[in-house]
Amino acid sequence: VREAELLQANGVDAIVAQGSEAGGHRGTFLDDWRDALTGTLALVPQITDRIEIPVIAAGGIMDGRGIIAALALGAEGVQMGTAFLPCKESGAHECHKKAVLSCTEDRTVLTRAFSGRPARGIRNRFTVEMETHRDILPAYPLQNALTRDIRQAAAKQNRPEFLSLWAGQAAALSRGKTAGELLAEWIQEAEQILQQLHN
Ligand SMILES: Cc1cc2nc3c(=O)[nH]c(=O)nc-3n(C[C@H](O)[C@H](O)[C@H](O)COP(=O)(O)O)c2cc1C
Repeated sequence: VREAELLQANGVDAIVAQGSEAGGHRGTFLDDWRDALTGTLALVPQITDRIEIPVIAAGGIMDGRGIIAALALGAEGVQMGTAFLPCKESGAHECHKKAVLSCTEDRTVLTRAFSGRPARGIRNRFTVEMETHRDILPAYPLQNALTRDIRQAAAKQNRPEFLSLWAGQAAALSRGKTAGELLAEWIQEAEQILQQLHN
């Protein structure tokens, strides 16, 4: 919330409120990221209560239900990452897409092992073995440069155990399909929920 207030005071146009569920890199730039792991449901209303500019909710939003929930919390829009990862148009590696589609709610971890910045991805051999060295890992961009060759080789050899398999905690709700099909489904679901709520 403090970071959102600071951003608003410095003249940004909109704020992405990223809950700890989110896949990929964390957007925390103020203080220690470990103190900024508030979940989306708790974070978004605390920000929208304090902020005048548009707030975009992110983290664990995977379908029409999530979109309506975010709007109910006061967000003006949503940012969805993991939901698009395994879709047809996505440039993610096939191993990554498969891992997201078969992920379960207990399989993601926050790790600095790949880039030096904290990010959420699916636990694999690399995240587990590097955990032992977590306190001595160099910061971004050094660690990112150091792991580049490993990630590129792993991609060529189709070895997901050494790939950064970024994914959020709700990855199991992903559907694949095309981006257009996903959007059409989410809009239909959102409209249906709105109707049910009105009845
Ligand atoms: C593959 C992938 C890479 C990402 N990379 C970044 C990044 O470099 N910087 C950042 O601030 N957020 C990054 N994110 C986070 C997204 O901007 C967004 O906040 C997140 O995907 C929302 O949560 P969800 O994945 O549960 O939908 C990334 C997300 C994914 C899935």
